[in-house]
Amino acid sequence: MDSPLLADLNSRLAISGRIRFAVGPGGLPIARIVNPLAQATVALHGAHVLSFQPHRAAPVLWLSAKSQYADGLPIRGGIPVCWPWFGKHPTDAAAPGHGFARLQCWTVLATAALPDGATRLRLELRDTPATLAQWPHAFRLEADIVVGRTLTVALRCENPGTAPFTFTGALHSYFTVSDITKVAIEGLDGCTYVDTVGTPTRKVQSGAITIGAETDRIYVDTTATCVIADSGLGRRVRVAKRGSHTTVVWNPWIAKAARMPDFGDHEYLGMVCVETANAVDDVITVPPGGSHTLATEIGVD
Ligand code: BG6
Repeated sequence: MDSPLLADLNSRLAISGRIRFAVGPGGLPIARIVNPLAQATVALHGAHVLSFQPHRAAPVLWLSAKSQYADGLPIRGGIPVCWPWFGKHPTDAAAPGHGFARLQCWTVLATAALPDGATRLRLELRDTPATLAQWPHAFRLEADIVVGRTLTVALRCENPGTAPFTFTGALHSYFTVSDITKVAIEGLDGCTYVDTVGTPTRKVQSGAITIGAETDRIYVDTTATCVIADSGLGRRVRVAKRGSHTTVVWNPWIAKAARMPDFGDHEYLGMVCVETANAVDDVITVPPGGSHTLATEIGVD
């Protein structure tokens, strides 16, 4: 039987044949979206897209079989919302990596069936005493998720306070690939990146990215669309973006995968992250009453 939360969400916001709220992995509430163009699941925990599969196509996003699903823990795979800091907190070693937005249960604002057949889900997160203790700013975040022929996630951050704040973040998208050694990531030729494996070093990308070792790179000053060209699956996944000058490319490879409790030892072969980010040189300042939108659109050619 549905919990009171799910019963309430379904009575107000379910749309027959399009979107319904249900119990997901670990008992977390999820939205199940099915329409003529695609299907997707979104956890309210973190406004986290868990899966996206266009009609007559293979699943696009990768989700670890070892992922944990619980309050206060991040989900491994899909699209974690990293905010209001990317990576380690700049000064507080005890603060959670990639910020707190992916660890909180978001509120459902609205659902809609769009005229083109797509489905929209809007989720909200606001400051609480717990977030203010970690990051002393009032904020409103809205995740606007549209599931259609493509998947769009737009993360709008508003500053309702009286002083400017700065933040970094990412839509940390994990993609399924046939075999990481058969994949090329196009779109970043000639870009400068910070290679964060070992001592962080600035380098320049030459040609497409191929991966045969631990890869953790922050490409700076780029608004480019990337394509994950996967000869094994015979597909090209296009990752376009808005409000971002940073793209992160990550694969943990063997040793780092083995160190992560929520990542299977061999799973690094079947995934790659191409993340739409604001990080390093791309720190965003939001004035009082202002906003910033970080968005990604993911589609299969
Ligand atoms: C990437 C970082 O964005 O996220 C990596 O560049 C990090 O350094 C990875 O390991 C995963 O982070 P987490 O906190 O989800 O384990």
